[in-house]
Amino acid sequence: MRHPDVQRFLEAAEAALTASAAPGSAAALAGERVFSRLRDGVGAEGGAVAAQLPVCGWIEAALKAAEGGPRQGLADAFAALVERLEWKRRASADPADRVFWDGHANAMICGPGGLEQRDDLWIGATVMAPGVTYVDHDHPPEEVYLSLAPGEWWNAGMDWTDPGATGVIYNPPGIRHAMRSGAGPFLALWVLPV
Ligand SMILES: [Fe+2]
Repeated sequence: MRHPDVQRFLEAAEAALTASAAPGSAAALAGERVFSRLRDGVGAEGGAVAAQLPVCGWIEAALKAAEGGPRQGLADAFAALVERLEWKRRASADPADRVFWDGHANAMICGPGGLEQRDDLWIGATVMAPGVTYVDHDHPPEEVYLSLAPGEWWNAGMDWTDPGATGVIYNPPGIRHAMRSGAGPFLALWVLPV
């Protein structure tokens, strides 16, 4: 049995993605791959050891920004998981880059080291303080981002884009990409079929 809070979060994430991605689009298809795998089976309890970083103090304000918006249900379901997650800096983060070092954290929800162990998908979250740009990166799996608070995304085939409150951003496999916060905190979910 999946933990009911995780199940509720996954249902809310799928509903948000389905509501926001055009039917048949690459983002919709990637989401279908991930959520059908989650329906087909529940992974073992993951190895996440609850941990926070100072930047996690921005999560509350970011979730407040979602209040009354189209993703409030998803924000509420995510809020129930926040304190059980293992919030970490990106492994390659450089302590000399203070703005990025102090200004971001990632947490895996379903995937390696998450609340639910999976080797066929990653679902997680990124929080950033205001005025932070996430380092350019790439990875073989395609990726769908769902915003919970305002932010902008870039990839090698797309100028900086604010997808709005119901935004979905799709990154094709292997593409260079990044995201950044504006005047407020950034909070987004990422969904990747692996
Ligand atoms: Fe990414």
